[in-house]
Amino acid sequence: MPPMEPISRVHVSETDVVYGGPSAGFRTGRLPPARHHERQVCPVSAPSSGPSAASTLTTPSTAASPAAPSPGTAATPVTLSVQPGAGAALVTFAGVTKTYSNGFHALAPVDLDIPRGEVVSIVGPSGCGKTTLLRMAAGLSSPSTGTVRRSVDRTAYVFQDPTLLAWRNVQANTELVARIRGVARAERRRAATEALELVGLSHVAHALPRELSGGMKMRVSLARALASDPELMLMDEPFAALDEFTRERMSDELLRLWRERGFGVMFITHSIREAVKIGHRIVVMAKGPGRVADVIDSPSPPTADGGAPRDEAALDALARDIAASLAIV
Ligand SMILES: Nc1ncnc2c1ncn2[C@@H]1O[C@H](COP(=O)(O)OP(=O)(O)O)[C@@H](O)[C@H]1O
Ligand SMILES: [Mg+2]
Repeated sequence: MPPMEPISRVHVSETDVVYGGPSAGFRTGRLPPARHHERQVCPVSAPSSGPSAASTLTTPSTAASPAAPSPGTAATPVTLSVQPGAGAALVTFAGVTKTYSNGFHALAPVDLDIPRGEVVSIVGPSGCGKTTLLRMAAGLSSPSTGTVRRSVDRTAYVFQDPTLLAWRNVQANTELVARIRGVARAERRRAATEALELVGLSHVAHALPRELSGGMKMRVSLARALASDPELMLMDEPFAALDEFTRERMSDELLRLWRERGFGVMFITHSIREAVKIGHRIVVMAKGPGRVADVIDSPSPPTADGGAPRDEAALDALARDIAASLAIV
């Protein structure tokens, strides 16, 4: 028996992380309309044994002893550290570097917090390591040096491609994650129905993906993520394939959903304007090697009630400053 240490090591397969994990504490009953800054980590029982239990991400209050490694995860197992009492951050990168197996040095040391209930947007040129960072936050890739600490149960990953099943209708696509996780039919139906209502798609619940516009497909992708009531949304250029007008509407939509549910977001984008609009905090990355060049608190962040007008002039000025710092203008 190894000596007790204050770090629980858990192994997570790709499927577990993307879909929030088979034992990631899917809530039964109606999903509560969580309010900003009032959310608590959903308690989960301490891991026992077997693949399912080993993929449980223990919460700070329950992570008292090392968990058994998973014997049977299909994807490359990734070791995450979940430290008891790790503070409010959902994810903390401490001195994280990444050198790929071909020797490519993708990330210089990164120190970064993703706070609970806030939107952190990450902007930077292609190849600066944004996706590398996001994959590490998801536990899909491990750092070469440094640590990635996660204090989160339920994570949802939203990609640029909505990845809907063409032969399933909107309702079934929205239920898909919960179905894979073995959530009872009535419960997953209720959660998906509520999520579709939230994104304004109840009226097309029986439509097939090919009948939807690009914006609607992305809404289904958001609904599918919301149906698992995530504490953390990892979003990798989710709106990049949409036209300008739809893209603008989707960022408003994301902020509205954030106000409703209060999840934390790690939002990757190429668009400085989008990053500034939705972020409480804007992380500016640079390349050669990939690194965090600046972390800026928004001069006029999105508010939980959405009532107060934003200081558009301050946001525009910040976008110009960031563009200048990235040598885009
Ligand atoms: N599996 C890999 N093996 C080797 N190099 C990689 C791998 N994945 C990404 N890279 C390289 O690491 C750098 C950062 O990639 P990525 O994180 O995808 O950047 P971004 O998302 O900012 O465009 C790029 O130069 C990319 O080519
Ligand atoms: Mg990328």
